[in-house]
Amino acid sequence: MLRVMTEPMLAHAARHHHPREEGVTIDANENPLGPSPAAREAVIAMAAQGGRYCDWLTDEFVALLAEKEAVKPEYIRVYAGSTEPLHHAVAAFTSPQRSYVTADPGYEAGMMVSNALHVRVVKVPLAKDKHYAHDVRAMLAAAPDAGLFYICNPNNPTGTVTSHADIEYLVENKPQGSIVLVDEAYLHFSDATTAMDLVRADKDVLVLRTFSKIYGMAGLRCGAIFGRPELIEKVETYGGMNFMPITAVVAASASLKDAQLVPERKRINSAVRSSVFAWLDRNGYSYIPSQTNCFMLDVKRPAKEVIDAMAKQNVHIGRIWPLWPTCTRITVGTASEMEQFQVALKKVMAGAVMARVGPVTSRTSSRVLGELPGLGSVDT
Ligand SMILES: Cc1ncc(COP(=O)(O)O)c(C=O)c1O
Repeated sequence: MLRVMTEPMLAHAARHHHPREEGVTIDANENPLGPSPAAREAVIAMAAQGGRYCDWLTDEFVALLAEKEAVKPEYIRVYAGSTEPLHHAVAAFTSPQRSYVTADPGYEAGMMVSNALHVRVVKVPLAKDKHYAHDVRAMLAAAPDAGLFYICNPNNPTGTVTSHADIEYLVENKPQGSIVLVDEAYLHFSDATTAMDLVRADKDVLVLRTFSKIYGMAGLRCGAIFGRPELIEKVETYGGMNFMPITAVVAASASLKDAQLVPERKRINSAVRSSVFAWLDRNGYSYIPSQTNCFMLDVKRPAKEVIDAMAKQNVHIGRIWPLWPTCTRITVGTASEMEQFQVALKKVMAGAVMARVGPVTSRTSSRVLGELPGLGSVDT
């Protein structure tokens, strides 16, 4: 059985609170703004039709998406979120002989599917000297047997961007028969260039998009995979063709029709993020500059201690990637949530709140942390 593993499950596994509890939950890269007003209205108006399949609503949504992305509708398949097409693409293009190649740290879902399928997972550290972009040359060198290269652009958990030139280089130099899966879940928060032009050019490229992030529809569930029909059909062998929840497709359609939504939310996210980064700089904390709704904070001690101590302050952050045990991912919430995050972090880093009973050592004092440079000092 191929178990679907997605962000809320990964966040849940790392959590020790119930997200319904009081407090600030910034551990699952959710959008605190939720669906847009037009999307909400569409959901409510659609509820009465919930007894019918209304399959034409999905067709209408696909037509809208096709027009927006300038691809033919047969280049698109929609799903209840992008998790399923991600899993199915891994299943379709990897095998015990064809490896799965990913960045480290990177979004774990594809890796987990690969493990379940006994596929070799090749993890290649992000390129520190390229602002933590994917190291496409190292990825190529590490896996002459590659079946699928997973490029998360911008990357989860770092929010760092890989250039279009590097993605093109990967596509042009990859082993024959392999494909490049570009996961653009966080694209709209950033200034990254989409790889959709490579789909339009019929390259060996699949692009994933989701309505869970900038559109704030994680719980409503809508996502899509784009690629030339022959590739999409291979993905579909592993599942698909199910009916979409009609509430999700009408909410997604309403979101697409609102031309102001993406720029407005990008602006809000970027303003809150910049203000958090300025605060981190002022206080001498280390982090990796990000272009999305999440970033990696280096707490310079086992990050688990800080996550636990923050939870005691009712601020829920996480999670940790084994390559960087002193870093934890932080989701950018609302301005007020991030103020609460800052108050709690300051207390925790000063040693005023500890997850474990024990003395504050000089390593964990704010004085020592205050001496550290504010920018990207994470060692890979
Ligand atoms: C990079 C990336 N891809 C895919 C997903 C899956 O999201 P969904 O199934 O909600 O579209 C997530 C969720 O956080 C993600 O971070």
